[in-house]
Amino acid sequence: MPSKLIVVSNRIPMGDSSSGGLVVALHDVLARSGGLWVGAHPDTGSDDRTLELVGSEPYRRLAFRLSETDLKNYYLGFSNSVLWPLCHRRGDLVDHQPGFEEAYRAVNRRIALRIAELADPEDLLWVHDYHLLPLAYELRSLGVRNRIGFFLHIPFPALGDLSMLANPENFAEWISHYNLLGLQTRGDVARCLEMYRADPRAEFLPSGCVRFRDRITTIRSFPIGIDVEGFRAGLLEGEDCPFAQEKPEALIIGVDRLDYTKGLLNRFRAFGRYLETRPEGTRPCFLQIAPPSREKVQAYQDITRELEEISGHINGAYAEIDWTPIRYIHRNVERKSLARLHNMAQACLVTSLADGMNLVAKEFVAAQDPGDPGVLILSRFAGAAEDMTEALQVNPYDVEDIAAAIRQALAMPKLERVARHRACMDVVEDTESSVWAKTFLKVLGKCPLSLTEKLLTPGKDSSGTEEAESDAEVHR
Ligand code: G6P
Repeated sequence: MPSKLIVVSNRIPMGDSSSGGLVVALHDVLARSGGLWVGAHPDTGSDDRTLELVGSEPYRRLAFRLSETDLKNYYLGFSNSVLWPLCHRRGDLVDHQPGFEEAYRAVNRRIALRIAELADPEDLLWVHDYHLLPLAYELRSLGVRNRIGFFLHIPFPALGDLSMLANPENFAEWISHYNLLGLQTRGDVARCLEMYRADPRAEFLPSGCVRFRDRITTIRSFPIGIDVEGFRAGLLEGEDCPFAQEKPEALIIGVDRLDYTKGLLNRFRAFGRYLETRPEGTRPCFLQIAPPSREKVQAYQDITRELEEISGHINGAYAEIDWTPIRYIHRNVERKSLARLHNMAQACLVTSLADGMNLVAKEFVAAQDPGDPGVLILSRFAGAAEDMTEALQVNPYDVEDIAAAIRQALAMPKLERVARHRACMDVVEDTESSVWAKTFLKVLGKCPLSLTEKLLTPGKDSSGTEEAESDAEVHR
């Protein structure tokens, strides 16, 4: 039987027009392989042990229900109040509550039971993000032997930060049940390998894979990208163009979920600092789109309040009757409008304090006119900075540095803007989301299996290479 792809993520695409790169990238391969996507139903409910069909063809989307208690302990709790701050170097925000980890494990176990019923032996399983780290561990304990890949969309945590978990040793164990671990950047891979180097249970194989007991995991970076064509299509939908009446003389844009990792406070402060020192008579406008996110978590309530205070303060200090320097939009803006807004902007501010990749950086670049492009100001702590070296890179902890970058961006000669944009656009094109997905699945299809399986099927290592033999020679 030909294999199908089973994608598992906490969020399930519901088939609306707001699809991002991941959904678009997987669409074709799921449709072609008769594949399916499993994820949490947008509405809570009781787990009735069957998956519900949601959305529409051309591939099946199956949803499990989370109860209110699951939502509190698995999603808002362990996923977003422990793992999220931990991976984003905010140990001070890690909230250890009794029941969080237990619920996280229990939800993963339940999802594993559903997947085990669906998966045929040849199917490829692709699990996404930190909500589901133990899924392969649970699947293996149910006897599932399929190839399973995992992609972590957020930064891999630093070794020291892992100690903030109640059971830090679980992290290495959970990952070791995947055949392939995909990470965003080379920096993430280095941090992951450092974790295994420090773990006496792990060994390194000559192939570079990690052996953990009888299991072999390939660890590689796959920098994620966007659906370039799909995003640029938004440029053509120009009828009700925002700012049609009153186009600002200089527009700076920021687009982020309202999250404390995005460095929004310093971004606002830096714009305030720029206003203080701007060329006389200029009236730039900073448009920040920041839809609410995870609002039940205290840290998100705090950042929302602080941001309102800062934007109110700056506007209070500088606004004139016909000029509002900061337009802060605390709600969702239709995805199709984003390309046009980016296209109108002279600069984009991405000031994350930590970020897996940051696709807004890539979307801004993709939306520019190559003959007269805007300038990307990019935090050096965003995964995108590893390859987008021609963006104006800034230290998001340094307000003066960001303000200076705004100054430089708005004064940059066209020739320099064109050259920097070309270099950034090369990165956007090279990491296009469909290529990203194909590359991951190709590598997954060739990953060495566990040592036990190799012994059972000598010479049939499905990597199709001679690695099986040499992998047995372990060195550290
Ligand atoms: C990040 C995570 C995703 C998550 C998204 C939105 O990009 O990597 O897994 O889906 O944020 O967060 P939410 O909590 O709303 O799903």
